[in-house]
Amino acid sequence: MSTVTVEAEREHRVTLPSLAQCKRRGHKISMLTAYDFAFARIFDAAGIDVLLVGDSLGNVVQGRETTLPVTLDEAVYHTRLVSRGARRALVVGDMPFGSYQVSSEDAVRSAIRFIKEGGAQAVKLEGGVRVAETIERLVVAEIPVMGHVGLTPQAIHRMGGHRVQGRTSEGRSQVLDDARAVQQAGAFAVVLEGMPADLAHEVTRELSIPTIGIGAGVNCDGQVLVMHDMLGLSEWTPSFVKSYANLGALVSKAARSFSEEVSKGKFPDEEHSYR
Ligand code: KIV
Repeated sequence: MSTVTVEAEREHRVTLPSLAQCKRRGHKISMLTAYDFAFARIFDAAGIDVLLVGDSLGNVVQGRETTLPVTLDEAVYHTRLVSRGARRALVVGDMPFGSYQVSSEDAVRSAIRFIKEGGAQAVKLEGGVRVAETIERLVVAEIPVMGHVGLTPQAIHRMGGHRVQGRTSEGRSQVLDDARAVQQAGAFAVVLEGMPADLAHEVTRELSIPTIGIGAGVNCDGQVLVMHDMLGLSEWTPSFVKSYANLGALVSKAARSFSEEVSKGKFPDEEHSYR
């Protein structure tokens, strides 16, 4: 590939400035989770702006009840796979529980692994006021940070389950304070998860950085979904999820056909055999 082609490709890459510009121009940002090369390549070619290697991998890839057991090694490994499939999209590595809570130094060390080993352009971490100092420290180290406030799955035990946040006036103030703290600390964008649509709208109007909603209504600057949920690969999905395909049924049908043809000696036929 010539240097000119490489440069031209780079110009079209989604970057922090281009996401900021999306907010200014009112262009909505699309983000999907991805955990491997194959899906990253498809989503990237389809024009998805941001690929999030979510710690939801604990649920949808590893089959765990919560995201808490996901390790830093696992998250960095999946980030590396996704980065190989992303030519245009911005890749964000999600910092798993335990990789940034002990100290800011620890957080910087963990985040550097996402950039150096995982090939990510940014990291995401959960929390607002509580993690503002950590975000500041990461930003000083030139590591772009996406915040995540509202329903934060790593706080499942404190929240008593995956509960919508910001429904009381106290909860509403907390979400607003968290979002402000994340922006003030230097995050380039923030995920708003599981909150009333009008609260997400208020946060989006107040912040100058883009907000990416999940279960937070239409008035965010962008939207994110977990790929298994929107593709019909999850056993159960929350009510805010829209199903865009039923891959579960398609894959099941293909596997049944294969099994049947193998048992009847119909596969492989002449066409699929070497001579
Ligand atoms: O881990 C994840 O997939 C996430 C999204 C739900 C935003 O954090």
